[in-house]
Amino acid sequence: MNAVMKLDSVKLIESPRLWVSERPVFLAPEQLKGVHRFHKSIPGYARTPLCEWGSYAEKHGVRSILVKDESKRFGLRAFKGLGGSYAIFRVVCEELGLDPLETTLGDLKSERYREAVSKMTFITTTDGNHGKGVAWASGLLGCKSYVYMPRGSVEARAQAIRDAGQAEVTITDLPYDDCVRYTAELAETNHWYLVQDTSWAGYEKIPQWIIQGYTTMLYEALEQMREKGYSRPTHVFLQAGVGAMAGSMLGALCNIFKEDLPVVSIVEPEEVACIFESARQGDGREHKATGSEITIMAGLNCAEPCTVTWPILRDFASYYFACADEVAAQGMRKYAAPEEGDPKVISGESGAVTMGLLSRLLEEEAMEPIREKLGLNEDAVILLFNTEGDTDPENYQRIVSGKGLL
Ligand SMILES: Cc1ncc(COP(=O)(O)O)c(C=O)c1O
Repeated sequence: MNAVMKLDSVKLIESPRLWVSERPVFLAPEQLKGVHRFHKSIPGYARTPLCEWGSYAEKHGVRSILVKDESKRFGLRAFKGLGGSYAIFRVVCEELGLDPLETTLGDLKSERYREAVSKMTFITTTDGNHGKGVAWASGLLGCKSYVYMPRGSVEARAQAIRDAGQAEVTITDLPYDDCVRYTAELAETNHWYLVQDTSWAGYEKIPQWIIQGYTTMLYEALEQMREKGYSRPTHVFLQAGVGAMAGSMLGALCNIFKEDLPVVSIVEPEEVACIFESARQGDGREHKATGSEITIMAGLNCAEPCTVTWPILRDFASYYFACADEVAAQGMRKYAAPEEGDPKVISGESGAVTMGLLSRLLEEEAMEPIREKLGLNEDAVILLFNTEGDTDPENYQRIVSGKGLL
């Protein structure tokens, strides 16, 4: 068991770094060339902004705070479409026997392939953002998709998925992980393609493509950092549901920076913190979260780690944080009302938790020991990912206006 430190609404585990394994080959730069090439070929592609919060950084004695703002991604208000679209592209290429490095989205829509492609059907489970990406990417290719949502999903998110593509969307009464199992069965029975943003034993190829797909946002961010004069981040905070996104960023970072890896912290909701729980148990294996599974961070409400990325998070992350919902709410408000001179960012519950945590670390006196431990000092160049915008607009307004409970 690894020791848990608790300070107010934040819990922390420091990685014992016991299980050091190989860097993940599938996230090495040469494996990712086709990913960025594919995303650039999507009509309307543009880099999302990298916002710099110079005033806030100066006020709290760190060198820079940079936020990659995925609320602007492809009009989908979240980063997730990067993974779903690349995986669907790879599935179609494989099915038609095409080389993904020689094929474009335009080829798949051409007269030659259009009919065969349109017969393919995709299915997934989502708490919102991934399903929207799958619906959108299927729609781009003229394919049908089925999207299932766990209990408690809000209708606004279901409607946003319907609006994004040709998707049939159902809100079930199942918890997230059971919903995933249900859609896996439906895929098998109906010969549909399951495009799921988590993995388990025997289902790894498509999740790996999704995880590769996410890396476009990291490569863009590093390019934008260099343009601003920063050679690398010293600290990266990554929010996790199943940990696929965090593992993608971390796996790609360790392939790029090797021994000079930034200090990477994984951040989860405390009521559903499966990566934190796996780190706490400390036996090297992944474990289910133990909390109530009730959180405002819908995108992070996943109780079972992604098996492909857990070893990356176990071996290369420095810290694991579990945060109460009020930390995410604080992050949303911080993004909505920054210091004078810093750009405003629209950030939803799952997007904002890392900013909520960072602001507590920087602003609260009681956090000084953690600040020191992490090395959040005048040399720190801190990178955060705002992974979603106001994907639940009503709740966003409630929280940001201070009318919510948090
Ligand atoms: C907005 C947002 N941020 C972060 C994540 C976390 O991704 P993962 O489940 O890969 O850890 C999700 C997942 O759905 C999400 O929707």
